[in-house]
Amino acid sequence: MGVFTADTGHEQVVFCQDKQTGLKAIIGIYSTALGPALGGTRFHPYATEDEAVHDVLELSRAMAYKNAIAGLDLGGGKAVIWGDPATDKSEPLLRAYGRFVQSLGGRYYTACDVGTYVPDMETVAKETRFVTGRPVEHGGAGDSSILTAWGVYQGMRAAAEHRWGTPSLAARRVGVAGLGKVGKHLVKHLLDDGASVAATDVYEGALDWARSAYPQIDLIDSVDALITSDIDVYAPCALGGALDDRTVPLLRAGVVAGGANNQLAHPGVEKMIAERGILYAPDYVVNSGGVIQVADEIQGFNFERAKARATRIYDTTKQILALAEAEGVPPAVAADRTAERRMAECGRLRTILLP
Ligand SMILES: NC(=O)c1ccc[n+]([C@@H]2O[C@H](COP(=O)([O-])OP(=O)(O)OC[C@H]3O[C@@H](n4cnc5c(N)ncnc54)[C@H](O)[C@@H]3O)[C@@H](O)[C@H]2O)c1
Repeated sequence: MGVFTADTGHEQVVFCQDKQTGLKAIIGIYSTALGPALGGTRFHPYATEDEAVHDVLELSRAMAYKNAIAGLDLGGGKAVIWGDPATDKSEPLLRAYGRFVQSLGGRYYTACDVGTYVPDMETVAKETRFVTGRPVEHGGAGDSSILTAWGVYQGMRAAAEHRWGTPSLAARRVGVAGLGKVGKHLVKHLLDDGASVAATDVYEGALDWARSAYPQIDLIDSVDALITSDIDVYAPCALGGALDDRTVPLLRAGVVAGGANNQLAHPGVEKMIAERGILYAPDYVVNSGGVIQVADEIQGFNFERAKARATRIYDTTKQILALAEAEGVPPAVAADRTAERRMAECGRLRTILLP
């Protein structure tokens, strides 16, 4: 994918290489209209360079929308490190990467993503101050899945209220696909609210965790079996692309609200969901609690302040669902319009010269 020829709209894409450590990284900045770009670093063994470029362009764009709708004064960016985190990750490589982040002078703040963890950010922080997701003991926000799950729960409550007139999930049956970092925390909030939970995961360790921590969870064999079972809410919490031409016709839930990024497999799926009468709470609206958590670190981390902000995902989701209804468009379209409006209107204010 060519940045110029495909007219992706990105401000800046930086290729970073250090032969000695084997670092090959790409930092994508979609927009700094609202402030410095914030987004995590994905460490992944892409099959080709094109695939890595495609991923960083998509992910950085999505971060701009997520940060805008979360009300953060931050733009959207993301980075990918092309390599296998299991074999290629080393202190020198991460520090070399940190130096490239520093070289952008604060136009981009990094954080954890798939393949990078809190201790990695501590290593990156030896070379740059433009890093979040550091350990709590070093003043960092730590594991962002805590407020991601809290925010998903708030977004789900808003969707339930829009659909059934009450935000309570008591007596609702929620199907959670993926019992990873986000899914595990989400399950607790749901059970505390009185919901019954059905769940599935491909990883035996995650199922063992569920059996011992919450024996009341109904464990289901596969995602297909979960979505065709009698559930009120479907919460995709594994990988992207959960909603596609094959799965949408199978869905039995009245509401979809989950933590996974990029749930819609391609443009047009949002329309299929709406035509089936299913209420979709847009992924980047409800899963913005994680970026809210790490963004708080920039001004000195305060968990209660970050949690209060993530709690407002309930209000934001309600507003988006109401706007979608008023404008007669799917919620995903209403969310995009809202994010674009904030980037354009607040970003424009910088044209007013301040002496
Ligand atoms: N961690 C965060 O703060 C955060 C923030 C925003 C969005 N997200 C998104 O939420 C999703 C989950 O993130 P996470 O941090 O919990 O990741 P994770 O890797 O801890 O958990 C993912 C879980 O999904 C399971 N899984 C994978 N494929 C599956 C399949 N086909 N069927 C069933 N289960 C499957 C895995 O075994 C794993 O247990 C991802 O899409 C991520 O991008 C995470």
